[in-house]
Amino acid sequence: MRPHVELIQEADLCWHKAELPRGEGKVRQRNLSYDEEDGSASMRVLFDSAWEREAGYHHADIEWYVVQGTIKIGDRLLGKGSYYRAPAGLMIPKVSVQEGTEILMFREYGDWGFSLAKKNRADFIPRGGNTASNEPGEFTVVDTSRMEWMPNVYEGDTQRFLKLKLLYHDPAPEGENNKGFVTMLAWAPPGWSDNRMVHHPVFEEAYSLEGNLVYNFGTLDAGTYFFRPAKVKHGHFVAGEERGWAGFFRLDGSLINWITVNERIIVEGDALNYDLKTQAPVIAGIPVRTRSVGDWDLDGQ
Ligand SMILES: [Fe+2]
Repeated sequence: MRPHVELIQEADLCWHKAELPRGEGKVRQRNLSYDEEDGSASMRVLFDSAWEREAGYHHADIEWYVVQGTIKIGDRLLGKGSYYRAPAGLMIPKVSVQEGTEILMFREYGDWGFSLAKKNRADFIPRGGNTASNEPGEFTVVDTSRMEWMPNVYEGDTQRFLKLKLLYHDPAPEGENNKGFVTMLAWAPPGWSDNRMVHHPVFEEAYSLEGNLVYNFGTLDAGTYFFRPAKVKHGHFVAGEERGWAGFFRLDGSLINWITVNERIIVEGDALNYDLKTQAPVIAGIPVRTRSVGDWDLDGQ
């Protein structure tokens, strides 16, 4: 249960003490999206001091993306644009974070728990909470600054002009679109547009890293974020002319584009004591928004 968040600006949100148990240091987080049932969450995290934590395993699948600063994990130094992922229960080495570092932190299928340990939680650690694979889970480290943008792997005419950097891919088996997981950077080049409305069988989540993209829920500028549950329509995209738009994306399965054209909504009812034009009720299900992105004009409702 994650609510439909679309659209928020991260800078509008309040800070919380970071959910990073077993670590030493001063850290805070902004909650972009939070599942109060299983503890899954997407957070922007700021390390106000140096921070470190000994080896052990997380109780959720976790992903860290370095927005700025430096992280040392085991013997590896990770700078801006680096990414790592570990499935729940997989032992990861000691982590040290430099003061002032900022990351995007994601937990899935579990809460903030972390157990200090020198080995994995069990003999077999699955690839992730939504996997259909029988392969053992692995520790993934990627430096996106050393990767080239690749063509969009997902079908769809105008969508093929999007560019991707794939960070983690646990493929969905044939006929099971809702299994597996995808994490990637996506870039809509300057002037890219797609005037249709689309929806997917899976959730889609993105944090805007740079540029801008106007679409039915508003404008994606740096620091904006959405978590869109499966089957919510979205579209009418127009990317900015200068740099286009780039964002950090997560999907809990295979991205299939179902297309709607000539969309319309028909709500029928007889108003007993109010004016239909000025006093009509809104539909339930208006997504979570913050002040600087303003009201939704209901395009695509
Ligand atoms: Fe989409």
